[in-house]
Amino acid sequence: MTERTVLISPSLLSCDFAEIARDVAMVEAAGADWLHIDVMDGHFVPNLTIGPPVVKAISKVATVPLDVHLMISEPARYAEAFAKAGAYVLTFHWEVAPSVEEARAVIQAFRDAGVEKVGVSVNPDTCQEPLAELFDEVDLILIMSVFPGFGGQKFIAEVLDKVRWLRAAGYEGWIEMDGGVNADTIASCAEAGTDVFVAGSAIFGAEDIPGTIESFRSTATERMHVG
Ligand code: DX5
Ligand code: ZN
Repeated sequence: MTERTVLISPSLLSCDFAEIARDVAMVEAAGADWLHIDVMDGHFVPNLTIGPPVVKAISKVATVPLDVHLMISEPARYAEAFAKAGAYVLTFHWEVAPSVEEARAVIQAFRDAGVEKVGVSVNPDTCQEPLAELFDEVDLILIMSVFPGFGGQKFIAEVLDKVRWLRAAGYEGWIEMDGGVNADTIASCAEAGTDVFVAGSAIFGAEDIPGTIESFRSTATERMHVG
């Protein structure tokens, strides 16, 4: 069995955007392994967030890797901008390149742009099975456990079957769960085979942020070996 390490990636969507540097330093000091940055284009999802200049500004103050989640219609077009801005993981959505050929073209564009780690994501109502063809070409598979666009939504437990399916099909890279991850849902994610945990409202809304990250890590580490 592959030995996996739990990674906690707080979503900056729930930080105070007027105090990003302060909140980055705060979650890093609290134990964040990565920083999850949600990029939305008002087209693929019904919300607008941030673009490459802000990612670049974050990269200047961050000391942990940037985990950039592109919820945009034309990911290849912006690959270079996000790579230059300092993205470590760059994830696109399968729904905008919904065939192995189209997805491969996006992956190639990301690699050509110098992206270190490439991720692909599926929405809660998208079948993950075609991703089997891409297991050797991606570093991370992001399973959306809410419909993308907003923080603070309820976890959709049915997506846990996708994680189990990916592990049973032999995928050994990172599996990241995004949406509604909190103290009540993290154990089931870990048991299913998740190793990267995004949490926005559950971390930034917590009274004790270091304690929350520590308890997420210990629960996930314990449960990932049970599943
Ligand atoms: C939703 C984003 C998530 C979001 C998660 O579209 O992709 O990363 O910030 O927020 P919570 O953890 O509050 O569900
Ligand atoms: Zn996200």
